[in-house]
Amino acid sequence: MIDQSFHYEGVTGHPRLPGRDIKFSINDVNVYYGPKHALKNVGLDIASREVTAFIGPSGCGKSTFLRSLNRMNDLIDGCRVEGQVLIEGEDIYAPEVDVVELRARVGMVFQKPNPFPKSIYENVAYGPRIHGIARSRDELDGIVQSSLERAGLWKEVRDRLDAPGTGLSGGQQQRLCIARAIAVSPEVILMDEPCSALDPIATAKVEELIDELSGNYTIIIVTHSMQQAARVSQRTAFFHLGYLIECEQTDVIFMNPQHPLTQGYITGRFG
Ligand SMILES: Nc1ncnc2c1ncn2[C@@H]1O[C@H](COP(=O)(O)OP(=O)(O)OP(=O)(O)O)[C@@H](O)[C@H]1O
Ligand SMILES: [Mg+2]
Repeated sequence: MIDQSFHYEGVTGHPRLPGRDIKFSINDVNVYYGPKHALKNVGLDIASREVTAFIGPSGCGKSTFLRSLNRMNDLIDGCRVEGQVLIEGEDIYAPEVDVVELRARVGMVFQKPNPFPKSIYENVAYGPRIHGIARSRDELDGIVQSSLERAGLWKEVRDRLDAPGTGLSGGQQQRLCIARAIAVSPEVILMDEPCSALDPIATAKVEELIDELSGNYTIIIVTHSMQQAARVSQRTAFFHLGYLIECEQTDVIFMNPQHPLTQGYITGRFG
């Protein structure tokens, strides 16, 4: 058994990526829910245009950390975020930051597909419309089509754009949510267990899509599936009890982890 009473102070590294194009630089982030200290001194760099996977046992803080990257934690009563999150050098917690704009730059896809109770077309058109991205109906139609194409859904829905988004299968709904996120041209897509409600075939489609999108977007995916992390990501961060334990190239995390807690988790000894 791994000794889980391990002393953490000073263990949490701040993995930096010298020489890389950095999307997020994160320094000493602490997150509290009331008195509960959920994330502890997390610091790391996240490279642009690659897939980073967050793994770790339930409750270790993966979703909390993901939400701190587009200020979704602001919406949770009693939640407090300390520390610094820089996106391309800009502090996302600075008072002058327009949070709506930030969330267009850093989009999010959730565990349970959550299309709006509107048509397929409107689900995708909504963001570009509220952000004033399209100047004409033609332009909006073009954005809707190209977003659905990039999400690998166009061929399946082109004949029923006016049908409700909620009438699609689970896997199609999740790709619709990805199309909705893409439609506002985000730089980053945060995905919190995006496949956990999907069957293996729908999961394979979403994984393929993540791979294609990673050429143009920075993607961070939370997953409980180590196979999935290994398949889709270039880097993997392992969290445990609110600490970032290790963040490395994915093959290193799975073949040659540096920390006994990572080793224990990936070999299934706890979690
Ligand atoms: N809204 C909240 N209020 C109070 N505590 C919370 C809240 N959300 C999360 N927590 C606590 O913060 C810690 C981290 O939770 P978080 O949801 O980030 O974990 P996780 O790694 O995403 O877990 P899972 O794999 O189960 O989704 C947990 O101890 C959790 O109970
Ligand atoms: Mg979670």
